[in-house]
Amino acid sequence: MSNLVKAIRIEKNGGPEVLQLVQIEVPAPGDNEVTIRQHAAGLNFIDIYFRDGLYKNPLPHGLGFEGAGEVTAVGKAVTRFKVGDRVAYGQSPIGGYAQARNVPAAQVVKLPDGISFEEAAAMMLKGLTVQYLLRQTYRIKEGETILFHAAAGGVGLIACQWAAALGVKVIGTASSPEKAALAKAHGAWEVIDYSKENVVERVLELTGGKKVPVVYDGVGKDTWMTSLDCLQPRGLMVSYGNASGAVEGVNLGILAAKGSLYVTRPTLAVHVNTPEKMQAAADELFEMVLAKKIKIRIDQRYPLEQAGEAQAALAARKTTGATIFTLN
Ligand SMILES: NC(=O)c1ccc[n+]([C@@H]2O[C@H](COP(=O)([O-])OP(=O)(O)OC[C@H]3O[C@@H](n4cnc5c(N)ncnc54)[C@H](OP(=O)(O)O)[C@@H]3O)[C@@H](O)[C@H]2O)c1
Repeated sequence: MSNLVKAIRIEKNGGPEVLQLVQIEVPAPGDNEVTIRQHAAGLNFIDIYFRDGLYKNPLPHGLGFEGAGEVTAVGKAVTRFKVGDRVAYGQSPIGGYAQARNVPAAQVVKLPDGISFEEAAAMMLKGLTVQYLLRQTYRIKEGETILFHAAAGGVGLIACQWAAALGVKVIGTASSPEKAALAKAHGAWEVIDYSKENVVERVLELTGGKKVPVVYDGVGKDTWMTSLDCLQPRGLMVSYGNASGAVEGVNLGILAAKGSLYVTRPTLAVHVNTPEKMQAAADELFEMVLAKKIKIRIDQRYPLEQAGEAQAALAARKTTGATIFTLN
């Protein structure tokens, strides 16, 4: 293989049109890196935040944090991997949209034989996120009822299945009857169409007036207030994303007024910031997938040339489940 590979790069922030398909030279891996020939890479909403400038990185830069493939070279200090290993990652320096790249070995895990490269590229970032949300940020318990927004999305469909496997009732939200049906088919107990229905009233009804102990909210701005109103006293608001825009200008008094609520704004990076934490979270995720308790649903596949279209579809709420780029 030549060291020259296709990759996506941006030189300025903006819409999907700023994505450029370029040829890049993949250098020899650094001492603590591995070179991965990627078979597939994942698309995530965070890629859009970095493209449009909501999240900042010095320009120019690549895009993407999730991928899977084979190790083709290892750095001098790397002991956990060898050439030919099947591997995947869901946190990395920015630049996953590429046919090959170098990634710090500390962020990479070996892929079990029963999981394909495509599944891995669709689930590492999203599945590890669900692992920490449901098992660390708030450890959901059998018999509980929780609210999870955007339940038919990439993160959402994994969350519905994981929670159902733990005996937890998920009240999901979605913006169409088709998306609601999909979330239900993946384990959601009930799904509210938040484009039409009153979420707070429906949550009160479904929980017999009790509301929920935790809300997982990746939608952000549009659902912030609704989410707080669905929480029991001393409940936890997990605001983990901004699909509709960032939550800003919050007066802390609102948490008092709505029942001594807790709020957290977590990131995956902090939860998997050592090889041990990464491996432990990945092991739990792999176990769920290998046991077929979680099926990784890839509803959109694109070549790298169409990265702009892929991002536009995700931003326009036209996708369900995961989107991947097929690469080699
Ligand atoms: N903090 C973390 O560690 C972390 C890690 C991974 C992901 N995330 C966040 O998790 C969320 C889901 O990520 P994902 O990649 O799996 O995306 P996704 O859920 O597949 O796509 C986003 C979904 O959000 C819903 N949405 C509501 N309002 C929207 C709007 N104004 N514009 C676009 N979408 C809107 C849409 O579903 P409906 O049409 O059903 O409303 C859409 O399909 C994102 O906010 C992402 O940033 C956070």
